[in-house]
Amino acid sequence: MIGNDLLGIEDLPREDIETILATAERMQEIGTREVKKVPTLRGRTIINLFFEPSTRTLSSFEIAGKRLSADVVNFSVSNSSVSKAESILDTAKTLDAMDPDCVIVRHGVAGVPKRIADVLDAPVINAGDGYHEHPTQALLDLLTVHQEKGRIDGLTVAIIGDILHSRVARSNIYGFTKMGAEVRVAGPPTMLPSNVETLGVKAYTSLREVLEGADVVMALRIQTERLEGAFFPSIREYSATFGLDRAKLRYAKDDAIVMHPGPVNRGVELSHDLADHRPSVILDQVRNGVALRMAVLYLLSGRPSRAKAKDAEG
Ligand code: CP
Repeated sequence: MIGNDLLGIEDLPREDIETILATAERMQEIGTREVKKVPTLRGRTIINLFFEPSTRTLSSFEIAGKRLSADVVNFSVSNSSVSKAESILDTAKTLDAMDPDCVIVRHGVAGVPKRIADVLDAPVINAGDGYHEHPTQALLDLLTVHQEKGRIDGLTVAIIGDILHSRVARSNIYGFTKMGAEVRVAGPPTMLPSNVETLGVKAYTSLREVLEGADVVMALRIQTERLEGAFFPSIREYSATFGLDRAKLRYAKDDAIVMHPGPVNRGVELSHDLADHRPSVILDQVRNGVALRMAVLYLLSGRPSRAKAKDAEG
């Protein structure tokens, strides 16, 4: 049984990761049926509370909840009283008073899902907070690698790009190292956190060196809309140095897979060809995201709220 909330991978024990991955593997079968629905969470209410845009995470939490027969509410921030200056915590407490069984939070500021979890009865899932963590992305990445390679322990995982600003990198570093993989990171020196080796990874500034012997190559999105000029001279130079194509991928193992959390800047982090074809597994990551989020919703929402659990304890 995992804890009350899922706020990050840093504090998630390896046994809990294994439970979530094993549950997700069972959930995958539901997605292959003609009628992709089971009654497991019938009568439960799940709220998606997204303060930042999302395609993959929002839609896969919605589909995951619906496949388990939960009632899913997508809270629209732009049409809410947030636009009338209602605070985030007041918004969250208002929604909590409607007795949801789980609240999923994405916010541009690190720590907001934790602040909300501290005042809510319902379990809270972090769907990405600032540069901090994106735990369900890392879990779906672990699931994808486990299914591709049959194991995680002993693999070499190279994460390439903007490590400094990436919540996906941070959660994956915690996840893959906990599961026994060797994790390497590479990117422009301005995009590598100064203390990155304290996270248990090896840092490189050469693409060739980081790729040598890699089983898994994960490219990260460059936030071209915000970072060009501040952290690297030009998109063209970034792409020439750290962008992946089939020629550069030859430095990795012959059977290496290529991952990307999306959205992809085609021709920047990945060539068009690699973005669309094996060994890229980008759409498998998306597909696995539904089963993984079904597992997390099942493990967290199918239990009494904190308040009800306290009442039951007396
Ligand atoms: N990987 C990811 O978080 O994508 P979205 O921003 O589309 O949810």
